Amino acid sequence: MKDYKQQVADAVYQAIDGQLSVDEIAQKIERPKDLKLGDYAFPAFVLAKVLRKAPQMIAKELVEKIDQTGFEKVEAVGPYINFFLDKELVSQEILTEVLTEKEHFGDKTTGNKRQVPIDMSSPNIAKPMSMGHLRSTVIGNSIALLMEKSGYQPVKINHLGDWGTQFGKLMRAYELWGSEEEVKNDPINALLGYYVRFHKEDVENPELDDEAREWFRRLEAGDEEATRLWKWFREESLKAFTTVYDRLGIEFDSYNGEAFYNDKMDEVVEILEEKGLLKESQGAQIVDLSEYDLNPALIKKTDGATLYITRDLAAAIYRKRTYDFAQSLYVVGNEQSNHFKQLKAVLKEMGYDWSDDIHHIPFGLITQGGKKLSTRSGRVILLEKVLDDAVALAKEQIEAKNPTLADKEAVAEAVGTGAVVFHDLKNERLNNFDFDLEEVVRFEGETGPYVQYSHARAMSILRKAQKTVDPTKISGLSDPNAWETVRLLGEFPETIARAVAEYEPSVIAKYAIHLAKAFNKYYAHSKILVEDDQLEARLALVQSVAVVLKEALRLLGVKAPDEM
Ligand code: ARG
Repeated sequence: MKDYKQQVADAVYQAIDGQLSVDEIAQKIERPKDLKLGDYAFPAFVLAKVLRKAPQMIAKELVEKIDQTGFEKVEAVGPYINFFLDKELVSQEILTEVLTEKEHFGDKTTGNKRQVPIDMSSPNIAKPMSMGHLRSTVIGNSIALLMEKSGYQPVKINHLGDWGTQFGKLMRAYELWGSEEEVKNDPINALLGYYVRFHKEDVENPELDDEAREWFRRLEAGDEEATRLWKWFREESLKAFTTVYDRLGIEFDSYNGEAFYNDKMDEVVEILEEKGLLKESQGAQIVDLSEYDLNPALIKKTDGATLYITRDLAAAIYRKRTYDFAQSLYVVGNEQSNHFKQLKAVLKEMGYDWSDDIHHIPFGLITQGGKKLSTRSGRVILLEKVLDDAVALAKEQIEAKNPTLADKEAVAEAVGTGAVVFHDLKNERLNNFDFDLEEVVRFEGETGPYVQYSHARAMSILRKAQKTVDPTKISGLSDPNAWETVRLLGEFPETIARAVAEYEPSVIAKYAIHLAKAFNKYYAHSKILVEDDQLEARLALVQSVAVVLKEALRLLGVKAPDEM
């Protein structure tokens, strides 16, 4: 992509007497929100101090000196110099590039094919997957797609919560009240039921806790029956999670969860010991992190049991060895921020400089009716149910708008699930947001279906036109109504770069909404399918919009049906 900002900076640089370098000028250049103020603006007041003149005066004098070739116009407005790009030329350049590169428009090689493990989704076995896990799943997936587009090799890791004392409870509960058939029919609900019943009954029968501990001890010792049950619970849970992943179109490269690190923690403890980092505190083994202003990391409990962070230390080291990562990402709720700070600090103390390449990517809570969701209080939104309801709503709207559409089921599935995913991603990830299904699946407003619908509209125009655009023969588009759309298309690559740098899929979602809006405004004001000498240029624009909207949606993990 040609760098138009650089072109502006060069023009300013040529006109001044070296008071600022080209780079300094480029840094000052702004992008006016209002198109009437041009495409770029240079705030002349940054020269006021050195030139000892009124900013308006500087702007006026500078405009006289600026070489205007390549611009539609350059004008002084108050203390600003506004630059208007040559619409015909620039639109030709941008549309040619989009249509030549198609879905590869915006691809980068920044990542040098280095691997980036992304710890994402990571639900706990035998519990339903909640909206919180949905956030981790879809944010992680989108970041993986963005990293891939930037030339990295993402490795999607589902760090399943598949170990811990709760398995002892689950096994004891199953022994008492479980049935194989029940678990096979509806694994998650059956297992959750046993677990909940265990917690109810152990209030009156505290010996249950001892029995559960005994089961977990058997599991840790590799007892056959305990291992068989554990494997089975894990498998059945994973099957249930997979139906959700399938619907979202998300695959993982690894399901190495907490249990995978069982035999890898001794080494961690040994290294910690060797380096003299372990301290005893009330019978437990800890690493002091007061230098980092953090609470001590609890590595081993009094009874010798290892902990969540011990597993994560083993996992971090394993990932460095296995993937030699450029960055190692953890998409996990904000409430675990402290845990990841501790993890990084302990690794740092162990002498691993790559601790700096570990990034926790936190996100906020989903609330409903302003209230926090929680498994314990029973205030949960079950993901499968949400997806089903969203698809049903999408179907209603498709029936109303386009009753003769072929493949209605598949389109409703893409629109319904896409709506849920898009809604999640359009919110800046750290913000908490309230979940209201009706709002999520609306076809108008800032929603996924709106963007999908805009893409389908572009596709329908292209079908009607029955003409293919030759990307080597695109002429410029002089229509000022098209300019906002053209400009936005040109901003796609830099938008991707920003989303990657901030690990922020919402940047892409907001961009897609913006582009869809601009395109719909253009469509409302201009006739596209009239035979004149700009027809092909307009079709090139429509096609470019279709390409970029589809790619933006793909980067969010959302499908773009051709018709809806
Ligand atoms: N299973 C955990 C939970 O649901 C999330 C695990 C996140 N990943 C990690 N490496 N700690 O809270």
